[in-house]
Amino acid sequence: MNLSPGVVLALTLISFYAAHAINIPVSQAKKSEWDPKPILKQESNHGPLPKSVPSQKQLFPRHSPHEHPLARPSRPLRPLRPFQRSMQDYHLNILAKDVKLANFQDKVYFCPVEIGTPGQKFNMAIYTGYPATWIPSIHCPSHYALCNPYRRFNNASSSTYRANGKTFDASFEAGQVEGYWSQDNLKVAGLIVRNQSFAEAILEPNMFKDMNIDGVLGLRPRGDADGEELTVMDNMVRQGLLQAPMFSLFLNRFNFGDRDSLLTLGGTNPDYYTGGFIVAPLTMPNRWRFKMDGVQTSNRDGVVSRWGCETEVDSASPLIYGPMEEVDILNLMLGGKPHHGWPRTFFFDCSKVDGLPDVEFILNGEILSLSSKDYIIKEYRDGEFICYSAIEGMICRRDETPVWILGSPFMRAYYTLFDKQTNRIGFAKAKH
Ligand SMILES: *[C@@H]1O[C@H](CO)[C@@H](O)[C@H](O)[C@H]1NC(C)=O
Ligand SMILES: *[C@@H]1O[C@H](CO)[C@@H](O)[C@H](O)[C@H]1NC(C)=O
Repeated sequence: MNLSPGVVLALTLISFYAAHAINIPVSQAKKSEWDPKPILKQESNHGPLPKSVPSQKQLFPRHSPHEHPLARPSRPLRPLRPFQRSMQDYHLNILAKDVKLANFQDKVYFCPVEIGTPGQKFNMAIYTGYPATWIPSIHCPSHYALCNPYRRFNNASSSTYRANGKTFDASFEAGQVEGYWSQDNLKVAGLIVRNQSFAEAILEPNMFKDMNIDGVLGLRPRGDADGEELTVMDNMVRQGLLQAPMFSLFLNRFNFGDRDSLLTLGGTNPDYYTGGFIVAPLTMPNRWRFKMDGVQTSNRDGVVSRWGCETEVDSASPLIYGPMEEVDILNLMLGGKPHHGWPRTFFFDCSKVDGLPDVEFILNGEILSLSSKDYIIKEYRDGEFICYSAIEGMICRRDETPVWILGSPFMRAYYTLFDKQTNRIGFAKAKH
């Protein structure tokens, strides 16, 4: 994969600079046909915790939620079926391989990976929004402080290393990653992938500061524009390590005593979900993108998104994002209060979050609901708890389709199957 300079991945990956945990994506909208994901605007001036929040009236003087044209009270989008569709063909665990994931504060999930012979160990973030795998290189200059906290790949001490010669250059939300492509054996989940292409970074933006994570394991499918380098999943299937080009993710909740998060390569692990899968066909070959019917609240106050929405699943996004106008209405309907300094964050009274309605994502006429426990983030700050919505608005570029991004708050509730064999994505209730 040979990304041209200037290709911008509008990653929703982790904003490590903001003191606040909320990740606000960046806007460095260089034109790129390769990545149609909405480019997002930087708003990371999250100040100290607001003591009081202004009334909704001040910020939204013209519409109450119900007056807003998008939020007309309405009946559900379609006759809704209960969540019970069964997909027996997905129970393929006999040949699938599991690897436990570590959870960094519900923001990044990562697993151990070895590269080279003998294996050099790295912790790699699981990332379904990006196809390439990269780690820092020993050739990242040692005076360059940003490379120091990380384990670095040393090609000279691997007997199976092969140079590739192509340069690597990608923009992430946290900054630019530059380096070159290399090939070596890569071991994950007990599977050894021979001659795997990966990027050695010689410049990187300190993306995983203080997280004990070194690089990224790219799990997005490769598209024509992504160059020639095969992804880890491509090679696993070609080399006969997996029967099917699919994987699934169970994401646990930090500090909840849940069992470990799990990546299952080649199928699903039925111990980690209940019931069947609700599935949707992919709408783009090189992304985990599909179409939802809409989003609404369970008290049927209104449908915030009624035309059907392009949606992606992103394991490295610590929040759920949607088009700003729709998300603002949704959060207002839920009773959230926005605040000046935190323009897209809606706060809730922590003592009342239990009584909030569910947020319902509608897929194939079926409801995937998130309870307030799923979509409200509770944090202890400056001696008190604050509660805010895990669903945030983002500005979409005018020339781009508005997209919802279902990050880890959604994936913690729904076990997710990423299936390139039949080009579908599937969701089942996670069993915590
Ligand atoms: C390791 O990489 C460096 C920089 O690309 C290169 O000069 C060197 O020849 C490589 N070592 C081996 C053993 O291939
Ligand atoms: C890996 O590369 C080596 C050297 O080119 C080659 O001999 C070997 O067959 C390759 N293995 C696979 C599985 O592609």
